[in-house]
Amino acid sequence: VDLSDANTLRLPCVAERYAAPRTLAQLQQVLAQSRQEGWSVTVLGGGSNVLLPARLSGIVLRPLLEQWWLQARGDQLFVHVGAGVNWHRLVMSLAASGVWGTENLALIPGDCGAAPVQNIGAYGVELADRLDAVQVVDLTTGEVRWLSRDACQFGYRDSIFKGALAETVIITRLVLRLSREPLVTLGYGDLATRVPASPTPLAVANAVCDIRREKLPDPEELANAGSFFKNPFVTDQLAATLRQRYPEMPCFPQGNGQTKLAAGWLIDQCGLKGFRQGAFAVHERQALVLVHFGGGNRQGLLALANTVAERVAERFAVRLTPEPRLITG
Ligand code: EPU
Repeated sequence: VDLSDANTLRLPCVAERYAAPRTLAQLQQVLAQSRQEGWSVTVLGGGSNVLLPARLSGIVLRPLLEQWWLQARGDQLFVHVGAGVNWHRLVMSLAASGVWGTENLALIPGDCGAAPVQNIGAYGVELADRLDAVQVVDLTTGEVRWLSRDACQFGYRDSIFKGALAETVIITRLVLRLSREPLVTLGYGDLATRVPASPTPLAVANAVCDIRREKLPDPEELANAGSFFKNPFVTDQLAATLRQRYPEMPCFPQGNGQTKLAAGWLIDQCGLKGFRQGAFAVHERQALVLVHFGGGNRQGLLALANTVAERVAERFAVRLTPEPRLITG
């Protein structure tokens, strides 16, 4: 099965087998068969945060559980969401019906099931802030389990699904804890100046979409996986030293001796916006995004990523690490 169009970077990839179960029972059936046949299982969502290899053996599984529903419990509002629901469509439906909580995360590509893996975040809100629980199915036993928010060990672009539970479970459902009362987060960048006083969740979602469209390339038009690097954490001491030389450098002190820097700013300072190497380039408007013009492969992309990381390391003594997941064959 050709997966070249099933990843937003459009990296060429052929999978030996592919299944897209629509129900929990179907999913468990595919897992049972995979166990019997000894196929390794690779889970794929919307393909917007992965670096696929040219060949994938075993079976690629895309859970297409697409139901979602609201549940009011007292004055709290819970949303149950199947892994296969498109994240952005969910956000817009919730915002349009006056539900607060996910509007800052509008226009993030991909499926809901992938959202906890990297703890998607934007404009001052992370999924972890809104998540109540995650339902998973164990890849080896087929058993259904629930993880509380705390059990997910969320961090910046990080969770237990990248650590101890990597390649051992498949996320099948999320429960979000949202609100009909205003839950307004407008502190990031110039978001506050883009929405009316007493905004609706839809007004915030639309403003976030506008900001993202100004900077981030639409994967439908130009292949990319959003931010290619994570924003790096450095010691407060290194941040202070760099600040002396570059007073305008964006810094986000974490209050624990670490400061988060803006990788896009560091790359931009190296003069790399628009820098092209083979079929790939640093995006012209947002240096954190690498784009693919077509005809390239993962090796070519990693070569450009390496060039970028080396330039930043030489100039700032800061190591950049990729954000999308490297999938092994
Ligand atoms: N900057 C530059 N030049 C650039 C890019 C950024 O100078 O080419 C500066 C900006 O001016 C700003 C700072 O760097 O002062 C931060 O930029 P921005 O607000 O665009 O956010 P970011 O740190 O580059 C992160 C997330 C995005 C998320 C935005 C908004 C990561 C790796 N990326 O980007 O997430 O949308 O904040 O919250 O944390 C993604 O993960 O794929 C993604 C797009």
